[in-house]
Amino acid sequence: MSLNFQVPPVAAGRLPELLNIMPKAELHIHIEGSLEPELIFALASRNGVALPYASVEALRSAYAFSNLQSFLDIYYAGASVLLEEQDFYDMARAYFVRAAQDNVVHAELFFDPQTHTARGVSMETVINGLHRACVDAQAELGVSASLILCFLRHLSEEDAFATLEQALPFQDKFIGVGLDSGEVGNPPEKFARVFARCRELGFHLVAHAGEEGPPAYIWTALDLLKVERIDHGVQASRDAALMRRLAQDRIPLTVCPLSNLKLCVVPDLASHNLRELLDAGLMATVNSDDPAYFGGYMNENFTQTFAATGLTAQHAYQLARNSFEASFIEASDKQRYLARLDETFARFASA
Ligand code: ADE
Ligand code: ZN
Repeated sequence: MSLNFQVPPVAAGRLPELLNIMPKAELHIHIEGSLEPELIFALASRNGVALPYASVEALRSAYAFSNLQSFLDIYYAGASVLLEEQDFYDMARAYFVRAAQDNVVHAELFFDPQTHTARGVSMETVINGLHRACVDAQAELGVSASLILCFLRHLSEEDAFATLEQALPFQDKFIGVGLDSGEVGNPPEKFARVFARCRELGFHLVAHAGEEGPPAYIWTALDLLKVERIDHGVQASRDAALMRRLAQDRIPLTVCPLSNLKLCVVPDLASHNLRELLDAGLMATVNSDDPAYFGGYMNENFTQTFAATGLTAQHAYQLARNSFEASFIEASDKQRYLARLDETFARFASA
């Protein structure tokens, strides 16, 4: 079984194909970040929303970011075309179709309700549209999926509590809560009480930490918020004690290499520390974050990062395995996905 699985040698030229076909889970995707410019324009037209861009091309050419905030300004503007339940469904459906092409077999989707409720869109509209797309993804595409509600950390904890209240009537339709938006200056401790409440309610807990912010934010996400996974976490390599803690406690990091490149967290992919994290024994995974904005879905993240950093088939296996182990699926489903992963590697080696 998986623990003893020997990864067969794979010629470097065949690695991209293996990366493409291996089954994988995506654990860090903001569904609003999967809105392609074409769909933004189609929804704007359907809903009569005016956009400050003349064309799809003009919008796409605005996607040149210098840091996280410069991206968030455009990302929140793009989400303004989402008004009806069907809009949320269509957005998530487009993501699932694209993810299935990359052999993503399980996905845990972040959504940002405050971006929508602040515009008068009801929580019911948001959650019902996304949830229906998750149900259909399983039935029609064979992709299992669940939702994680993210609190926007640039807003107050009071606003987060109000958002939680609005979402509780639909609590059977999301499995956890997260924390996203502008990190620096909005440390995890700002949300300690609302996360404590979510923990009492039995939700899974995750938080963005150490994307642009310091290693201290990763410590407080773990110790004060008591999160089960860290989203990004790439700044951990600046703190040796933190690296030991993450390895010892097997805390998953949902790393997003193309995001880190496009938001200037790293100067180029060759400088990305994914290999360092893996080789230090951390449970890192690869994810797309906001694929419509960062130039690549899952397999693009894998192939570009492997090409730039010289990662191997052994790393590929580890990353795919980590994605299932770090997921919030039931143990029996995990075993089923891990067996499928082993089969894929064995079949590939003998072909
Ligand atoms: N919201 C969408 N993408 C994000 C990211 N990379 N960091 C923080 N908040 C986000
Ligand atoms: Zn993110």
